[in-house]
Amino acid sequence: MTPRPSGYTGTAKTLHWLIVALLIAQYIVAWVMPHIGRNTVPETYINLHFSIGVLIIFVAIVRLGWRVTHREPAPLDGVPPWQILTARVVHWLLYVLLFVVPVIGWMNASWRGFPVIMFGIEMPKLLATRAPGWQWTGNVHELLAWYVMLAVIGLHVAAALYHYAVKRDGVLQRMLPGA
Ligand code: HEM
Ligand code: HEM
Repeated sequence: MTPRPSGYTGTAKTLHWLIVALLIAQYIVAWVMPHIGRNTVPETYINLHFSIGVLIIFVAIVRLGWRVTHREPAPLDGVPPWQILTARVVHWLLYVLLFVVPVIGWMNASWRGFPVIMFGIEMPKLLATRAPGWQWTGNVHELLAWYVMLAVIGLHVAAALYHYAVKRDGVLQRMLPGA
């Protein structure tokens, strides 16, 4: 474990904003892709959804690997302990969701018998087609992605904006390039 840095390093910032960009793209694709039902044949948008989703898992693995070997910077002076604790819980919840949401989506794609091809490379199947007892993966993936993940991200972004506009304490600036 490295010592506590005074701010977020370039690597932490790059990984943070790369995930943000991939998630924005992923939600747009999820919004425009056709609804997936029993007779759906995966087409361009659905395949793009799988590719970006699996890419998110890979970047999240790199990011988490980097994070467990590098401590986050010390909290800024004057931030109350409950906010430091809440931020820590929300950050770890985001890390957990960054794996759980796409992995359950991948399980559902396998369950539906869809090949998951990440930009031309075929990925292993996580479940056998129509494996009994795994139908829930579709609903749970949708529910977690639309409601839980967006709610936690909303809380995180609201907190960042609150620090920027109300507290004006430099918490948001710590994650921006050049800070
Ligand atoms: C963090 C990454 C991901 C996010 C945010 C996400 C988001 C979503 C959202 C919002 C929907 C619902 C779309 C609708 O309302 O019609 C959806 C559906 C779906 N996604 Fe993902 N997804 C992610 C990763 C993945 C991955 C990696 C796969 C597969 C390799 C995948 C496979 C699916 C499938 C099969 C459905 C249809 C589920 C059903 O309707 O039963 N997703 N995704
Ligand atoms: C516009 C959107 C976003 C803004 C303005 C933002 C801002 C920030 C800021 C200012 C920090 C530093 C907090 C601190 O010093 O305590 C941070 C950390 C963090 N953010 Fe975001 N964020 C955004 C979106 C996201 C998204 C979509 C995710 C992932 C789903 C995410 C995951 C994280 C995580 C895990 C950390 C902790 C970093 C670490 O452990 O090294 N953020 N974010």
